[in-house]
Amino acid sequence: MKKPGEVFEDSRVYDPGIEAIVPRYDELHDAILNAPPQQRDDEIHVLELGAGTGELTAKLLTRFPESTVLAVDHSERMLAEAKRKLETFGDRVQIEQRTFPDDHPDGHEEFDLVISSLAVHHLSSDEKQTLFGAIHEALVPGGWFVNGDVIRFDADHLETLSDAMIKNWVRSKGWEEEEFMNQWQASDDYDDPDTLTDQLVWLRDAEFDSVASLWQYYNFAVYGGRKPE
Ligand SMILES: C[S@@+](CC[C@H](N)C(=O)[O-])C[C@H]1O[C@@H](n2cnc3c(N)ncnc32)[C@H](O)[C@@H]1O
Repeated sequence: MKKPGEVFEDSRVYDPGIEAIVPRYDELHDAILNAPPQQRDDEIHVLELGAGTGELTAKLLTRFPESTVLAVDHSERMLAEAKRKLETFGDRVQIEQRTFPDDHPDGHEEFDLVISSLAVHHLSSDEKQTLFGAIHEALVPGGWFVNGDVIRFDADHLETLSDAMIKNWVRSKGWEEEEFMNQWQASDDYDDPDTLTDQLVWLRDAEFDSVASLWQYYNFAVYGGRKPE
């Protein structure tokens, strides 16, 4: 039985697999890391929600060499991959098995930056709003939250267009989508994306300012906001 967001039965195939079904995966990660105002040599403390196999975590730790990261995820098997990958970063990274928003974040004003990639869309609308409030509490004044994620369109034809774009992407990697999903034992029955507009409004409701969307490719977007000073 898979947990929401694990995507593949076998987490060891996640890294090559996710690049084949998420268009512009690396570009999405780059946009997340380009968004915050911090400089490369700043000593920042970062929370990553839904770190999975640690792909974005490794990129963050490399791009910000003075950073420390708390990487949380509810999946033991995804975190086992992350532990292997992130070992080289030593005590700059702490990995914890937690479920958000139920038992995390629970810190108060301790993180300069909270990031997430392809994880928050597994939560219901209510849970997303609860999470945005908890993230706001966990950030230091002036800290940023940046999320790169799946979004939903209200217009049916844009949903259809996004589905077609993903099928074309998988085909460009040499697979028919159904064949890929079967052979790689992939699926995500727990997707619950919301519109970008709703999520930007919920960030404002949670008292973030400078709320903005920085990058979008069909039904994938990078957006976030700042906790006021
Ligand atoms: C599609 S993966 C994304 C992993 C990684 N961030 C990336 O960019 O490749 C989604 C991750 O979020 C985790 N996840 C989903 N919902 C979660 C929740 N409520 N609490 C903790 N982790 C969650 C899953 O276990 C999975 O590792």
